[in-house]
Amino acid sequence: MRIDVITLFPEFIESCAGIGVVGRAQERGLLEVVTCNPRDFATDNHRTVDGRPFGGGPGMLMTIAPLRDALDRVRQASTEPARVIYLSPQGARLTQEKVVELARMDRVILLCGRYEGVDERVLENLVDEELSIGDYVLSGGELAAAIVIDAIGRLQDGALNDAQSAEQDSFAGGLLDCPHYTRPVSDDLGEVPEVLLSGDHAMIRRWRRKQALGRTWLRRPDLLTRVELDAESRTLLDEFRRDYRAAEN
Ligand code: ADE
Repeated sequence: MRIDVITLFPEFIESCAGIGVVGRAQERGLLEVVTCNPRDFATDNHRTVDGRPFGGGPGMLMTIAPLRDALDRVRQASTEPARVIYLSPQGARLTQEKVVELARMDRVILLCGRYEGVDERVLENLVDEELSIGDYVLSGGELAAAIVIDAIGRLQDGALNDAQSAEQDSFAGGLLDCPHYTRPVSDDLGEVPEVLLSGDHAMIRRWRRKQALGRTWLRRPDLLTRVELDAESRTLLDEFRRDYRAAEN
């Protein structure tokens, strides 16, 4: 997969995409992250890429021409059609479902805004989709783009060392993840739940499922309304609720 990022801060994206799982995915040839700076397409001596908003108001906007030229250049890099995504708080909320959808594509172009954003005509005509990473405002789209790249990059086949770990992710089944423990078994901070030491894999799977359901119920009940629970899961969740209420009393 190839991800192009149109950004005034290419070094930031390159350093984020060069480390950890995503860096390794690039080294393994599973993913290519390529940056393009709209400033390279500015035509004046000051390399201007921004303009005042018509109608007044604070701040500056990114102008059309350098973004259009950058997009044209990036598109030319391959014949593969690419989805153009603009990162902004006005976008649809990024979810794991959307991440999985994007991870399956051959090409994505991420457009990062700075200043107060970009001229609306860019969004209307050159952008396919707008995505937000949450209900807060960042000073630019780069951090959001880095998040999208990380989430997509780790899902590329062969990026994670343990093939199971993407399947076990939080949200992978629409639920939060269960708790995890490592050495030591006993510590001032507490004990590892006995079932995890039992070697009984069916019991361990059941316990993990119950914890994942219970945590989702406690912390993100909104997620539970969106998943279809099978009979076993409903039983496990009932058990969790009963245990929880008993512990409360
Ligand atoms: N740019 C600025 N804020 C953002 C947000 N919340 N999500 C995506 N891009 C952004």
